[in-house]
Amino acid sequence: MELTQEEQRMLDGAYGSGTALAMKIQVAIGEAFQAPRMVPVTRTHVALSNQEADLWFVEKLVAGGAVCRVSPTVNPGFDLEYFQCITTVSPEDEAIIRRTRAAYKAIGATLTYDCTPYLQQNIPRFGEMVSYSESSATPFINSVYGARTNREAAQSALCAAVTGVAPLYGYMLDENRRGQALVRVEADMKSDFDYQMLGYFAPEKIGFRIPVFTGLHNPTPEALMNLGAQLNTGGNVAIYHIVGVTPEARTLEDAFQGSKPEMEVVITNEDLQGMRERLTDQGGKIDFALYGCPHFTIHQVQTVADIVKGKKLAVPLWIMTSSLTKELAVRMGLLDTLKAAGGDIVADTCMDQPCWKFLYGKKGITDSPKCAYYTKRRDMQFVITNLEESVEAALKGEI
Ligand code: F3S
Repeated sequence: MELTQEEQRMLDGAYGSGTALAMKIQVAIGEAFQAPRMVPVTRTHVALSNQEADLWFVEKLVAGGAVCRVSPTVNPGFDLEYFQCITTVSPEDEAIIRRTRAAYKAIGATLTYDCTPYLQQNIPRFGEMVSYSESSATPFINSVYGARTNREAAQSALCAAVTGVAPLYGYMLDENRRGQALVRVEADMKSDFDYQMLGYFAPEKIGFRIPVFTGLHNPTPEALMNLGAQLNTGGNVAIYHIVGVTPEARTLEDAFQGSKPEMEVVITNEDLQGMRERLTDQGGKIDFALYGCPHFTIHQVQTVADIVKGKKLAVPLWIMTSSLTKELAVRMGLLDTLKAAGGDIVADTCMDQPCWKFLYGKKGITDSPKCAYYTKRRDMQFVITNLEESVEAALKGEI
């Protein structure tokens, strides 16, 4: 790869061994993908996982004196102080979260602990070159804003944050953003939940091709968030186009950059219903309700609060969101409403964390296939259904 003088200085250790390691990794990635050079990035997001490998890497960079040139927003771990009040947090889990906080603070991250940075705090403009990890973030950045990021790992995004550059390849180039599969949606798409099912189902029909959707009209931000999160979880699809909605798809021709689709599929109500039946656990008694994977918006918090207002939940209910959205919910009286019903909001927290150990072996309800996908390895079962129906079930304790 051709490096600038400054990039070569980073690689040679002029800024310490941490920055040199970050640059070395990026050069290796660039060479693997035949990138001709680096490109400056103006925003970054690191999907920190608060797990040992992630911690090992960030601490190694910090020990080598690395400090971010482009401060990244970061994913959630868990809200230690909150969980210490409601359950037992083991000394090992406490130590890891404390070390995670310390390491990301030392490296100069923006400590948002939120997995929807593209809705608050870290919003790029069209065409901006950026480096984002997090499965719901990369599709939103590429597709909805038309900014350009590869599907980064937490570690490669952190390297970009430290060096301020990323290898020029993949989704950063026009030709790799071209739509590949035409997906004609004939399903009714009545709710944001239908976009979860569409995102989960589409890769079954089109593999990892870049989808170009038709038949989707005025999707909400939550619907677009759901669609991207599931496309990139059920599949490996970090960019999509919606004709007449996303900026690189004003027309079908734009979306395919003048070429022909490699394949064409139709998705119907029956397809989405079939997907839902295959994904979800059977109904029956439930032990809890868990939402916010990805983190809920204030609009979604409001929806839950409106349903439970003046009622009592039969099972505990948690909503995970950003600290900013939680603060908004406090100001708007929504947290009081939820608490009066027996629910709660927890900030800075991911469902794929050991803080939820007290729910292992139990059965919950959620509106997120991604939530159910990740928690299988933690022995949590979920019924997955749309938000309104699932909150009604939490009021009754069964579905
Ligand atoms: Fe967010 Fe964790 Fe789900 S980072 S999207 S709550 S897996």
